Amino acid sequence: MQKISALILSDEISTNEVLKLFISEYDNIDLLESSKNYTEILDILSNTIGKSVFIVDLSNNKQEKLDLILKISQQCPDCSILALSDNPSVDLIIKIMRAGAKEFIPVPIIKNEFIEALNKLIYKFNEPKRNNKCKIISVFSNKGGIGKTSLASNLALELAKITKENVALIDLNFQMGDITTFLDLKPSFNISYMLENIDKINETFLLSTLERYKNTNLYVLADPPYFKQADNIQPKQITRLFNTLKDTFSYIIVDAEASFDGKNIAALDNSDVIFLVTVANLPALRNTQRCLELFEKLGYDKDKAKIIVNRYMENDEIKDTDVEKVLSRPIYWKIPNNYFAIMSAINKGVPVSVSNPTTNVAQSYKDLAQNLTDNLYKQNMVQKFENILNNQ
Ligand SMILES: Nc1ncnc2c1ncn2[C@@H]1O[C@H](COP(=O)(O)OP(=O)(O)O)[C@@H](O)[C@H]1O
Ligand SMILES: [Mg+2]
Repeated sequence: MQKISALILSDEISTNEVLKLFISEYDNIDLLESSKNYTEILDILSNTIGKSVFIVDLSNNKQEKLDLILKISQQCPDCSILALSDNPSVDLIIKIMRAGAKEFIPVPIIKNEFIEALNKLIYKFNEPKRNNKCKIISVFSNKGGIGKTSLASNLALELAKITKENVALIDLNFQMGDITTFLDLKPSFNISYMLENIDKINETFLLSTLERYKNTNLYVLADPPYFKQADNIQPKQITRLFNTLKDTFSYIIVDAEASFDGKNIAALDNSDVIFLVTVANLPALRNTQRCLELFEKLGYDKDKAKIIVNRYMENDEIKDTDVEKVLSRPIYWKIPNNYFAIMSAINKGVPVSVSNPTTNVAQSYKDLAQNLTDNLYKQNMVQKFENILNNQ
C-alpha cells in the first residue's frame, strides 16, 4: 500500500486529539510532527517525499489559514488539503475551496464524515486527472447580426483570463464563420479535420491542433473553409466532438448558427447553458419568443436559456420590464450599446478588451465572465456540501 504523510493544524487540543485518533486507524498514514509556525508547516510539506494530506481547522485565524492553504496548494503539488471549521457557511466553503482545499467537513467532527472525506482524498491520489466539470455554453439567436460572435469570442477570452483554465471556442457557423476574422487567426485545422480524426483525439492532439489565441488558454476550433466539408457533418458527430473536448477543457463556448439545423440543435442539446441573445426591439423579441417556445418543445429546463439583451440603452423605447414581460423571463445580462468600440475591435481583428479595454462594453463582457464562473462555482459548492449546509 502507498505510504502517505499527514499533518494536522488545529488550535483546539480536543480537535487535534480526535483527528490523531482517527488517523491512527490507517496503517498507511504517517503522522508528521506539526508546528504552530505556518512557514515551518509550508517547509515540512514542501520537503515531504511522496503524497501528503494537510488537515487544517479554520475555526480560528481564518484568514491566515486561508493564506496558508493557498500557498500549500500552489507550492506542494503532492499535498491534498482537507479543511475543517466550526462555523461553515457557503461563503467560507467557497473561499476555502478556491484557495485550493479538496474536501471540507464541519467541527465537531463526525467520524464517518472524516473517514469519508479522507478516503476520497486518498482515492484521488491514484486516479488519473479527469476534468468532469466542463461547462458547455452556447451563444444563440435565430437571427444573424445580433451580437453572437462578439459575445462568444469576448466571453471565451475573458473566461480563459479569469480562470486560467483551458477554454475552447467553437465556430458552428459552417457556411460563414466569423471568429477567425474577429480574432485575426489563420488556423491550420478546422472542425472537419477534427471530426475526420476523432478516433485519434486525445489531450495532446487537441492542444497541439486547436489554434491557441496568442499566449492565453483560449483554443479556437474554426469553421471549415469549404461548404462541401460542412455538408458531411452529422449531428451525432457534434455530440461526439463535445464529449471528446470535455476532458481537456473547463469551458466550451459555442458560437452557434442562427438556425434550427440538426447540427446546431445537437450543440444546444449538449449545452449546460444557452445564452439567448436579443436586442430591445419588437422583431427581435418576437424571434426570441419563438426560440423559447422551441426550447420548451425540446424539453429544456426553464433555467437552461438565459436572456442576454445586447446593444442595451437606458433610454430605449422598450424598457427592461417590457422585455421581461414579453419573454416571461428575467434578463440575465445587458451588454451596453457601443457601436464605435465594437466596430473598431472587429476591424482591427482584436477583442474589444484589447482595442478599447476601458469601454463599458469591454467591462460588461468581463463582468459577465466573472459572474458566470462565480455562480457555477457556487452551485458546485452548494451541491457538494449540501448536507453540511442544510444541517446548520
Ligand atoms: N454591444 C454592441 N454595441 C453596438 N454594436 C454591436 C454590439 N454588439 C454587436 N454589435 C454590432 O452588431 C454587428 C453584428 O455582431 P456579431 O457579433 O457579428 O453578431 P452575430 O454573430 O449575431 O451575427 C457587429 O458588426 C456590430 O456592428
Ligand atoms: Mg456571427
